[in-house]
Amino acid sequence: MGGITHRVNTKASEQKSMGDADDTATALACLSATATADLAHTLIVSRQTHLPKRLGPPGPDAEQLEKLFEAAAAAPDHGLLQPWRFILIPDQRRADLAEVFAKALRDRDGAATPEQLEMAREKAYRAPCLMLVVARLAKADPDIRAIERVVSVGAAVQNILLTAHAMGFGSSLTSGQAMTSPHLRALFGLERGEKAVCFINVGTVTRRKSPRIHPVVSSFVTSL
Ligand SMILES: Cc1cc2nc3c(=O)[nH]c(=O)nc-3n(C[C@H](O)[C@H](O)[C@H](O)COP(=O)(O)O)c2cc1C
Repeated sequence: MGGITHRVNTKASEQKSMGDADDTATALACLSATATADLAHTLIVSRQTHLPKRLGPPGPDAEQLEKLFEAAAAAPDHGLLQPWRFILIPDQRRADLAEVFAKALRDRDGAATPEQLEMAREKAYRAPCLMLVVARLAKADPDIRAIERVVSVGAAVQNILLTAHAMGFGSSLTSGQAMTSPHLRALFGLERGEKAVCFINVGTVTRRKSPRIHPVVSSFVTSL
C-alpha cells in the first residue's frame, strides 16, 4: 500500500466506511505510491471552476450523488460536530428559489427593473445539479472555535468538487448577496447558528474555458 495509510473508523454505525476503505486499499494497492500521488495531484490541480452557464445535463445520478456526499462526510471534522449540511434543489423547486432571488434583489434595490428581476430568477435554473451549502456554527463545543468548523465546511465542499471532477463533471461555487436574505433562510429552513455559505453547481461542461494560473508556492509559504 506504499505510502498511503487508511484511518478506518471502527464505530458500529460506520462499518460501511470500513468496507469502502478496504475496497480503496485494494484498488490503490494496484498502483505504486508515486502513481497514486501523481494521480491525486493531477486531479487536484486540474479542477477548475465551471460556472453554471457552462454546465448542462446530465448531472450526477443518484448513485453518483451519494458518492459526492460520502466524500463530504470524509472531511476533517474536529470534535465530529458535523458543521455542514447540504440541501438539494430539485427541478420542481427551482421556481421557489427563483422567487427568492427576485425578492432578495427587490429588497436590495427597490428600483430593480423587470429585466433585472428576470435575470435574477434565471440563475435558479442553470446547473442540472444544484445544492446549498449550509455551515452549522452554533456553539456546540467551547473548545472548537467557529473558524475550525468553517475549515471543515470548506474541506467537505472541496471533497465534493474533487469527486465530481474525478467523475468527469464540471462544477462551481456561487454565492452573491442573496445568501444572507431572510427569504433564502426561510425557503431552506435555516436554523439559528446556521449560515448559507454558497451553492454548489455540478453538471456536464458545455463550454470549456482556459484554466487559471495558480499562485506560485513561494508567494504563500514561509518558514519560521
Ligand atoms: C465560498 C465561495 C463562493 C464563490 N462564489 C462565487 C460566485 O458567486 N461567482 C463566481 O464567479 N465564483 C465564485 N467562487 C469561485 C471562485 O471565483 C473561483 O474558485 C476562483 O476564481 C478560482 O478559480 P478556480 O476555482 O477555477 O481555481 C466562489 C468560491 C468560493 C470559495
